[in-house]
Parts: sequence; structure tokens; C-alpha cells
Amino acid sequence: NNPRYEHFLTQHRDEPQSSFHGRYCDSLMSRRGLTRPQCKEVNTFIHDTKRQIQGVCAEEGVPFGNLRRSRQHFRVITCTHKGGSTRPPCEYKENRSPRYIVITCESGWPVHYDESQ
Ligand code: C5P
Repeated sequence: NNPRYEHFLTQHRDEPQSSFHGRYCDSLMSRRGLTRPQCKEVNTFIHDTKRQIQGVCAEEGVPFGNLRRSRQHFRVITCTHKGGSTRPPCEYKENRSPRYIVITCESGWPVHYDESQ
């Protein structure tokens, strides 16, 4: 239905959380097409239902400038490129601490991941 929302899900939702025997970010960033043609610098994956994520655009979120910030922490993993070459294979470090998510909504649909707090 909404291509920007579908793109958001591809980039930012991993539910249930994939298991890759370590190397979560290196594997999933590649599988989701975020390492070609260059290594994306930062990307966060949310481990929750579409319903919970979309709720941030409604009563589960609060205004944050023009964006929406979640009322509650989400289980997220943020992948940050380790540096060195920007060409694949790409190596990432992982931040697994639960955090608030800050997203952009369009007609009630999440379309952009801004940051985690
Ligand atoms: O902050 P910046 O505009 O450079 O972010 C670019 C992209 O990085 C965002 O659109 C988002 O896809 C991703 N990002 C993320 N998690 C963060 C910060 C950025 O997924 N904590």
C-alpha cells in the first residue's frame, strides 16, 4: 500500500530477531541491501510488531519537533560502520541497549527512522 512504509520496514524492522551466530549487524545489513554499493554508516533494527511500531505515530508516541518519539523503550539494535573501507564487505559494531525511537510519520505510517535515544 504505502511504498515508503514498506521501505521503512525493510530497513528498520527485524521481528522476530534474526540469529546469525554472532555478527548480527554484518549479516543483516548485507541481507537487507544496506551495504551496496557502499556500507551504510548507521542503521537501527527494531524488534517489535508492526502494530507497536505504528503506535508511535499515534498514542504510543509524543511529538518531538516535527517527528514522533516513542513513550516507551523499544528493543533495538543499532549498527554502526566500524570505518575503514566504505566498500563491502562491511563491518559493524552493535549497540543493543533498549532505547526510545524517533521516527517520521506520514498519514499515520512510519516512513523514516531518525534516531534512538
Ligand atoms: O542522521 P542521518 O540523517 O545521517 O541518518 C541517516 C539514516 O541513518 C537515517 O535515515 C536512518 O535510516 C539511519 N539511522 C538509523 N539509526 C540511527 C541513526 C540513523 O537507522 N540511530
